[in-house]
Amino acid sequence: MKKLTTIAALALLMVVAACGGGGTEERKTVKTPDVVAHEKAIKEEKAPPIDPMTSKGIGPVSEVVLGETIDQGMVEEGKALFDKNCAACHKTDKKYIGPAPKDILERRTPEWVMNMIINPTEMVQKDPLAKQVLAESNGAIMADQNITEDQARKILEYFRTL
Ligand code: HEC
Repeated sequence: MKKLTTIAALALLMVVAACGGGGTEERKTVKTPDVVAHEKAIKEEKAPPIDPMTSKGIGPVSEVVLGETIDQGMVEEGKALFDKNCAACHKTDKKYIGPAPKDILERRTPEWVMNMIINPTEMVQKDPLAKQVLAESNGAIMADQNITEDQARKILEYFRTL
């Protein structure tokens, strides 16, 4: 008797599954815009807050000491490097393919800027701030220019003059 009831229950379940199956699946995959927005809000709240003025980014540079005065020799070399390797995508004072470096040290740490210059590919994949910038740049990606730490430091010195 018990077995019979189980079989009956199973049969009933199968009928229900056969009738309702398709519909249930469809309901599961279709998300209305409010659900999507809600899920996004939850995700963003859980993401740890990033402070652009303390974040050092990802790369070889962990500490940069800026001199009290700007080193003009480094600025000249930095400008030449910038004109050669960066100007195709960056204008100094307005957004071009990438953001303008003018006043960048008011928005970012020197370490972050240097890591972004030396290690852009990993930065845009893993660094929360770089990912944010990438999301705002209409799909344009910063290309790795094989810049050394020493060269990046000179470009940074040049950025201090903008
Ligand atoms: C092929 C185009 C391209 C080249 C070449 C390029 N960049 Fe970029 N750069 C971008 C784009 C696009 C972004 C923003 C998106 C991102 O973060 O990936 C960016 C972001 C940056 C940022 C972060 C700006 C911010 O406000 O957060 C810095 C700093 C930077 N670039 C410096 C340089 C320097 C210095 C060079 C030369 C050594 C260079 N870039 C070469 C396209 C380029």
